[in-house]
Amino acid sequence: MESVTRKMLVTSALPYASGPIHMGHLVEYIQTDIWVRYQRLIGNDCTYVCASDAHGTPIMLKARKDGISPEELVTTLHTEHERDLASFFVEFDNFHTTHSEENRELVEQIFARLDAKGLITKRTIEQAYDAQAGMFLPDRFVRGTCPMCGAEDQAGDNCEVCSRTYSPSDLVDPKSVVSGTAPIRKESEHYFFRLGEFETSLRQWMADGHVSQSVARKLDEWFEVGLQDWDISRDAPYFGCKIPGTEDKYFYVWLDAPIGYMSSLVNLGRKNGGVPDLDTYFAADSDAELYHFIGKDIIYFHTLFWPAVLEGAGYRKPTGVFAHGFLTVNGQKMSKSRGTFISAATYLEELNPEYLRYYYAFRLGPGIDDLDLSLDDFVTRINSDLIGKFVNIASRCAGFISRNFSGHLAGELDDPALFDEFLAAGDSIRQAYEEREFSRAMREIMKLADRANQYIDKHKPWQLAKDETQQPRVQAVCTQGLNLFRVLMTYLKPTLPSIATAAETFLNNGPLTWDNRCEPLLGVQINAFVPLISRLDNKAVARLVEKSAELAGEATSTSATNSDKAMISIDDFLNVDLRIAEVLSAEVVDGADKLLRITVSLGDERRTVLAGIRTAYDPEALVGRQVIIVANLEPRKMRFGVSEGMLLAAGPGNEDIFLVSPDAGAQPGMRVR
Ligand code: 2FM
Ligand code: ZN
Repeated sequence: MESVTRKMLVTSALPYASGPIHMGHLVEYIQTDIWVRYQRLIGNDCTYVCASDAHGTPIMLKARKDGISPEELVTTLHTEHERDLASFFVEFDNFHTTHSEENRELVEQIFARLDAKGLITKRTIEQAYDAQAGMFLPDRFVRGTCPMCGAEDQAGDNCEVCSRTYSPSDLVDPKSVVSGTAPIRKESEHYFFRLGEFETSLRQWMADGHVSQSVARKLDEWFEVGLQDWDISRDAPYFGCKIPGTEDKYFYVWLDAPIGYMSSLVNLGRKNGGVPDLDTYFAADSDAELYHFIGKDIIYFHTLFWPAVLEGAGYRKPTGVFAHGFLTVNGQKMSKSRGTFISAATYLEELNPEYLRYYYAFRLGPGIDDLDLSLDDFVTRINSDLIGKFVNIASRCAGFISRNFSGHLAGELDDPALFDEFLAAGDSIRQAYEEREFSRAMREIMKLADRANQYIDKHKPWQLAKDETQQPRVQAVCTQGLNLFRVLMTYLKPTLPSIATAAETFLNNGPLTWDNRCEPLLGVQINAFVPLISRLDNKAVARLVEKSAELAGEATSTSATNSDKAMISIDDFLNVDLRIAEVLSAEVVDGADKLLRITVSLGDERRTVLAGIRTAYDPEALVGRQVIIVANLEPRKMRFGVSEGMLLAAGPGNEDIFLVSPDAGAQPGMRVR
């Protein structure tokens, strides 16, 4: 294979700064990170950038609901996302945000260039408008009865029951999800990007092989229907970048989001004395390669709008857009109530991130098929492949080398032909990584691991070791085994970066690279072996699922607000029995990071409540405090016991939880109205 160093910029889709990173997101970040690490391992110059996708109506409304500013929301989530992704060893060169100076400058520059070329038109359109909230409503913020099948509470653009699509104005009895009132129709002037101008060029780009067959088929369907002008503006109130020269119009989030790829690169350059610079990767005549990893739901944005916007603004188009499928867990959509909607942070409380990296790699191909995280198979696969096959090679050989030979390896290989076979397999494994056939790469590596174990089984160092005269054979066999392990570790390094670092320390010969794997380690001293990874316990997986279900239950019970639901009547309100209560005792709940077990007095009655406020309150400090409790809430059975009520609190969560207390003079048991 060619050994010319390639210059590449790689991106993953920008996560919305509105919710936590979960198992579904991780498919893409892990896939991209493995590919980037593979490119670096073989010696390419690969830069990997990403950013928070910070703008848009959903983020504005989420912040409003949490009682914080959108800036505060996106800053908090940016920090959380960066932390969670780093914990899964997703190693960006830069993780910036679209709510940044760099992004505003670029979106304005690109818009001005498009406008100067006559690629922007203005016209007045009519849209759903929430007169009470004073805002235009995106389709999915209008719900009502499906005009086709009569199913209630369906989204404004499609029905989950009969799967048909329609426009919000077709809904029967439509309601705004913001205020619960019926939307009206209202006119406003919008800016449109003339996508149709790029049809020939986009068809050519597609024919030149920049997207896979399955993506090309989708593009063909869209060309068939015809490329429509794209509405790139939104009216205030909106959280985003204002369109210059207007008072109340903003760029649609989907215009400024992919520009985030560029602005993250620019920000990296600004932090690094100008290197890299935008033109190296984005100039029309750039010879660097540009790759975007995305989910299959956003192919349209990345293979039509984005290349057209780039070309229109005088930049180059992507070298490749790689789309992947969705994640299912146990064969079904992730579900909060089943506990399969698992956040990255919750996963990390129970399991090793490299289990997931291996499992996803084992399941990932280059196409847009969905990928299943079958939890039973996950446990079996990790224990049989990673522990039983791969790590086993090293653990079977290392002890003899350190105990019997003070860590010294033999001076030559026992079976050079077998070692060469392992090296030769590298071509196919390398090609599999390059083409994102990670599943094939993992299978080929595990086949080699079987071969290495067979070699050890055949020579049985544990038997040889019993015979004093056979010591040189023990050293030879174990040296061979460890050298086979070292080649396999090199092949797995993009997938298992932290295990690779530990193995590099153990092998005591610097970083493993694609090229130096060919030189066996002979006649040198290695370090003592430390277990590289432990068995995956299925009890830990069960705990993870339980915890996720519980957290989802807590979130839904604390997050409903008026903006979620229609207005309630005074009778509905009076049905809620709110009482003053006094905290008698409070204690942490073993095994639950967020819960406190709180016993309160309601005057003549005691209740025990499990409240998710541990991150904000010291249990001792609560004793004696008066709080307000929902006293007629059905008791809820949770993993850690039954909760007989709920305490009223405000705030977005974690450290920011504020218990509601009455003024002095209230007595336990008093009704609150
Ligand atoms: O679909 C999403 O999650 C978007 N936040 C992805 C944006 S990718 C890019 F265009 F910015
Ligand atoms: Zn329907």
